Amino acid sequence: MEKILWDDGFSVGVRELDKQHQQIVMLVNTLIEMNETEVASEIISDTLTKMTQYASDHFKTEEQYMLDYDYPEYSSQKKQHQEFKKKTVDFCVGTMVHKATVPTEIFTYLKSWWTSHILQEDMKYKEFFNTRGLK
Ligand SMILES: [Fe+2]
Repeated sequence: MEKILWDDGFSVGVRELDKQHQQIVMLVNTLIEMNETEVASEIISDTLTKMTQYASDHFKTEEQYMLDYDYPEYSSQKKQHQEFKKKTVDFCVGTMVHKATVPTEIFTYLKSWWTSHILQEDMKYKEFFNTRGLK
């Protein structure tokens, strides 16, 4: 599977959030790479766990900014973040049970979730935050 190629189109215009998104994308790419070689399931679970932790920290930062600036789509974002966390935890558990290979659904899901979440949902706050001085 192709990795996620980061370009300026992914920038939400807030440096801190861009940095966090990049770290998460890097971990998703690490998981995509692992799909092509044989790796111990512990390494896969560790990377998944790390990605979940980074994501969780990132959601906290993002949601706090949304609250601070009274962002109108805060509830919808929070809901999507919660659904992501729940689904990823299920995946982590599943991966640790199935020792042999990692289901392709994981990579497909993570790649499409982050790509569409950043490009469609997060992109909606770019102008909102920028015009309020958050960059
Ligand atoms: Fe978000």
